This record gives sequence, C-alpha cells and structure tokens, in this order.
Amino acid sequence: MPKQYFYITTPIYYVNGAPHLGHAYTSTAADVLARWNRLEGHDVFFLTGTDEHGQKVEAAARLAGVEPQVFTDRVSADFQDMARVMNISNDDFIRTTEPRHKEAAQAIWLKLQENGFIYLGKYEGWYSVRDEAFYDEDELTIKPDGTKAAPTGAPVEWVIEPSYFFKLSAFQDRLLEFYAANPGFIAPPSKRNEVHNFVKSGLRDLSVSRTSFSWGIPVPGDEAHVMYVWMDALVNYLTACGYPDMTGPRAGYWPASLHLVGKEIIRFHAVYWPAFLMAADLPLPERVFSHGWWTVEGEKMSKSLGNFIDVRPLVAEFGLDPVRYFLLREVPFGNDGDFSRKALIGRINSDLANGLGNLAQRTLSFIAKNAGAVVPPKGELCEPDCVLLALAGELPEKVRGAMTRLAFHEALDETWRLIRAADGYIDHQAPWSLRKTDPERMNTVLYTLCAVLRTVAVVLQAFMPELMNRLLDYLGVGAERGLAILDTPLLEGMALPAPAGLFPRIQDA
Ligand code: MSP
Repeated sequence: MPKQYFYITTPIYYVNGAPHLGHAYTSTAADVLARWNRLEGHDVFFLTGTDEHGQKVEAAARLAGVEPQVFTDRVSADFQDMARVMNISNDDFIRTTEPRHKEAAQAIWLKLQENGFIYLGKYEGWYSVRDEAFYDEDELTIKPDGTKAAPTGAPVEWVIEPSYFFKLSAFQDRLLEFYAANPGFIAPPSKRNEVHNFVKSGLRDLSVSRTSFSWGIPVPGDEAHVMYVWMDALVNYLTACGYPDMTGPRAGYWPASLHLVGKEIIRFHAVYWPAFLMAADLPLPERVFSHGWWTVEGEKMSKSLGNFIDVRPLVAEFGLDPVRYFLLREVPFGNDGDFSRKALIGRINSDLANGLGNLAQRTLSFIAKNAGAVVPPKGELCEPDCVLLALAGELPEKVRGAMTRLAFHEALDETWRLIRAADGYIDHQAPWSLRKTDPERMNTVLYTLCAVLRTVAVVLQAFMPELMNRLLDYLGVGAERGLAILDTPLLEGMALPAPAGLFPRIQDA
C-alpha cells in the first residue's frame, strides 16, 4: 500500500510578543497528531512558524526601539526555542520574512491578478491592528467609555487609504457549495454553522493591501502597497510545499490534511483561504479544526493583567511530558479551558504518578527483583489474562477513532480505562503471592502486564514521547516502535534494564 500523506500545520505565530501557553497549546496538539500519524506509518509533514509582517509587529518593533527585521529575528528565535522545549517535532519552521515566502506570496498575488480577482480601489472602514482584521460597522460593539470595539474587544480605528481588493464576493456561492459537499471541512460542528452563517449573510470584497505603513511584502508592480498581512500569512502553508514550483519534493503534501487553528482565526482559514485557493486554481485543504482558549486561574491572559503564562518555567518545574499530557487531557479539544497550578498538580498526581507511573513501577520493579529481570515467559494464558489482553488489543483502534476526531481527551480516557483494568488485575492476581506457590503462573501474570504496558506506551508516545520511550526501553522493546509492533509478540527472556520511576509525585505547599 502506498504511504498515506499527512500534512498538518499550526497557525504561524505573530512575533509582536513572547510565546505563551496559548501558542504552546496549538503547537502541542499539532505535535501529538503528527507523532500519532508517524506511529501509524504515514508520511507526515508538520509545519509551524512565525508571522512576521504587518502593522502590529511593526509597532512592537518600534516600541522596542529596533528595526523590524532585528526585532522579528529575536522573537522568532524565542518561538523556535519554545518549540524545542516542548519537543515539537515540526519538519520545517517557516518565517514570513524569508525570501522563499516573499516569492510565494508575490506569485500567488500575480496568479489572482491574472485570473481577474484583484482590482484597485479605496478602503474606507474600520480596522483593528490587534486583530489585523477589517470589520463592518454592524460587527462592532460600544464599550462603556463610548468607544467602538471589534467583536474580540480589540480597539478599532477608521482607515481611509488606497487599496487593492480581492473579489471575495464572487466566491459566496462556491464556498457554500464547497461546505455542503464537504461537511467535514470545518470542525467542530458549532464552528461550521458560524462560518456558514457568516458566508450566507453576504461577502464583501476584501481589502488585501495597505499603504499606511511599509513592513510587509511589496505588492508586485506597485511598491506603494504592501500585502495585507493575512493575505501574506496564509500563503505560508503553500510556501513550505515549494510553491510556486509544485513539482518539487514537497509538492505532494499539498493540499494540507489539517490546519489547526484557535477559534478566533477560523474565518481567515475557512473563508478567505479557500477563496484565495479557488481563485488561484489550487486544491483546498481537507480540514480546518478550531480549538478553544485557555484562561489562567479564571482570568483572560492579557497585557494589562500581565498574566501571560510562559510554558518553559512550567516544564522546568513539572517536567515536559506531564505538562503536555495536562494540556491535552484537561479540556476536551474544541472547548475553552482554565489553567491552574492546582489542576495541573492534581492531574500529575492522580493520572500519572498514582495511575500509569505506579502500574509501571509495580510491574517492572517486581520483575527486576523476583523474575530474573527479563521479559517473563508467557506460559499458559487463563481467562483473566485473555480478558485484559483483549482490552489492550482494542486500544489502538479506539484511540485511532478518537484521534481522527481530534478528541484527545477521549483517546487518553480510553487508555486510562485500560490502565485501571490492569491495576485491578494486578491486585487480583497478586503475583507477590504466586512467587512461592506457582512461579509459572506468576510469570504469565507478569508477561500479561508487560504486554499491556507496551500497548499503553506505544500509543502514548504521541502525547509523552520522552517518558514513553523510556518505558519502552524498560520493557526491552527494540528501535521499531510504531503501532505495527503491537501485532508482534513480546520477546520472552529478553534482558531488561533496571527500571526507575517515571512520574514523581508533586508535593505542593
Ligand atoms: N498570525 C496569526 C495566524 C496566522 S496563520 C496563517 C495569529 N497568530 S497568534 O500568535 O495571535 O495566535 C496563534 C495561535 O495561538 C492561535 O491558534 C490562537 O488560538 C492561539 N492562542 C493565542 N492565545 C490563546 C489562548 N489564550 N488559548 C489558546 N490558544 C490561544 O493569529
């Protein structure tokens, strides 16, 4: 069978400020999906990067007193550092200030122009620099102090400037037809309705260039204009595939399998982006999934509260994999959630230290002390062994189903159902009592537990790559660690290294 392609992207992050929990969340979720697909044996291309142009970034550079390029070099490096700390397995990191991207953005502009979808006019209307978005009057809200604000709460300003427009209005029907023919394109379903209603209510042509500042990609043939930052940014997903040369080694990854985005940027990905692609005669991505937002200890993260959470100190304090686990276990993906130290510590202690960690430690240290520190011989299976092994055998398929729906918490729930069943099994079978009375039976019980732990560790590699690799080392599993190895038996008699605890309990004052 030919390999299945899986091209997954995160949004490219604005470099107007330092990376925080929200960015780490999108990247970690994408990383789990990329790793899962690699475990499945798929041909994965995982892209992340930084969005470096536009008025907001230019203003941040000015505030920092440095040239925009110097500023974006610095902040982009910080985002790359966050990706490294979070063990994000991206295959490429794109920066919109790179020459390859400038070339791609200008090429798509020319293509849209050639196809008759770009015209010169004048923009007169509301703009929010914080959101880098144009708003209609009827979308705005009035704040208590009488000023107008974007639906996101961001300040807006009245802008009058010459501008090129993209004929978005020409795509209303085609977009509606596309959504109808591809009901899985936008997820979760509540977002599908939101986008659908927005398009149905009528699309106005979109301003796609600015003249009031210069930090952007010049419009080809009219250097008084720079491209609107979203027009520039969305193209990154194509740049990384080699666009405009769609014959290179990466071209086969387009169209993307999945754009992962936060809920506030669904409109850009599910309306503007498919319209640009249609206008450029390019195939559309398969799916756009919108996830929710984190608050911190009940509050929105904001500059005024100064409560942005940098994940790196959390990783230093609690360990990387526990933090990754928490982010994807605590909140059903798609919903909003609240981050608190208490919730993080609670999860680490109950699910990891007392749950998986305890099961692994009980089994492995018992084998090290009482079963010759090797994978025990399987012997003759009894009913309780078969029941537990059958449950383990069903896990990959259950997790596969949940991962396809991006229901990370369900994938983890299913895995913990198996862990709890194994806990009950070890209590019931009491290998410590069998040691003297029936060593053969003891070995069968320990073999069964090793097999279950191997299944759990293989599946969880997507979520906790470092620690699950260690657990697989403790189980004597070889270098090949994809889902396919679960169809092969454990190597009885294989010598096992001395195990150590995986998840220390956290004592919190
Ligand atoms: N530059 C644009 C994306 C362009 S993609 C072609 C952008 N950048 S961003 O830096 O503002 O945000 C990127 C991602 O971070 C979004 O997916 C967003 O949802 C996520 N988060 C930012 N704050 C967040 C939370 N508080 N909680 C969860 N995710 C949030 O938008």
